[in-house]
Amino acid sequence: MMWNCDWFSITTTTMSDTADRPLTYVHGYSESEATRLGDQADTLAELLHHDTRYPPGARVLEVGCGVGAQTRHLLARSPNASFTCVDRERSSLLSACAGLPTNGGGAGSVAFVQADIFHLPFRQASFDHAFVCFVLEHLARPGDALRTLQRVLRPGSSLTVIEGDHGSTFFHPDSPKARRTIDCLVETQARAGGDANIGRRLFPLLIDAGLRDVQVSPRFVYADGSRARWVDGFTRKTFIAMVKGARESSLRLGLVSEDDWSEGIVDLERAALDDGTFCYTFFKATARVA
Ligand SMILES: C[S@@+](CC[C@H](N)C(=O)[O-])C[C@H]1O[C@@H](n2cnc3c(N)ncnc32)[C@H](O)[C@@H]1O
Repeated sequence: MMWNCDWFSITTTTMSDTADRPLTYVHGYSESEATRLGDQADTLAELLHHDTRYPPGARVLEVGCGVGAQTRHLLARSPNASFTCVDRERSSLLSACAGLPTNGGGAGSVAFVQADIFHLPFRQASFDHAFVCFVLEHLARPGDALRTLQRVLRPGSSLTVIEGDHGSTFFHPDSPKARRTIDCLVETQARAGGDANIGRRLFPLLIDAGLRDVQVSPRFVYADGSRARWVDGFTRKTFIAMVKGARESSLRLGLVSEDDWSEGIVDLERAALDDGTFCYTFFKATARVA
């Protein structure tokens, strides 16, 4: 049986978070980025989702669902919950809708809504849980987004936030040029208003936004030649693919020369060879709405 994919297109006219800067989303919405998001979610599913389950009938809001890469893993673990998945990008929502797995007989439901996190078109206290993954890093005002989000959650709701932190990256063999290519992505994202090193800030961000019982758990990724799934799924298809995606913007902004950028990528790929190693830390926060 297929999931019933309800669809609501609610276009917001104001994107207040980005009103004062060019609306550039660092990763873009290409087919290759959609593939990368899928590879990332599949590779990290157990590490990031093993402790997230929503009870039957729970009303769950996923904000910034993108092409539904995390949604698929949420549904698999909570097949009887009722999901509402929001993103501001219509093409991503269409892909998410088209890519839903079979439901396996669960009583749950999924609805997709096009909206901005700062203008959520839901009544107060509409949801029991919220899930936000790799979204706050792209916002100039992540704290305000967390405050806005709480309006649509009932008191006592759970909030789960997962973010990366590119500053947590280290690898062997080390290379200044490889680190420079990563810094180019961090800088490009910063100029668009985001923070690619936001993982380490989740605890104070959630506390400042008024959330209760905030717990942050670091999720460490380690890939070496004996862990082919991690090397391929994470080092190559998630991380290096993400850094490569910032090539045009890094060159356009004059952050690096074409030659240095290319040499940096070659050095980064060296860490994915049999005698290389690669490390990265994600941060998963859970909290309650007051
Ligand atoms: C890196 S993707 C992550 C997608 C998904 N959560 C995942 O992990 O595969 C970030 C997503 O956040 C969405 N996004 C960014 N700013 C947003 C905003 N202000 N309101 C709603 N969605 C937003 C983007 O359109 C994009 O789909």
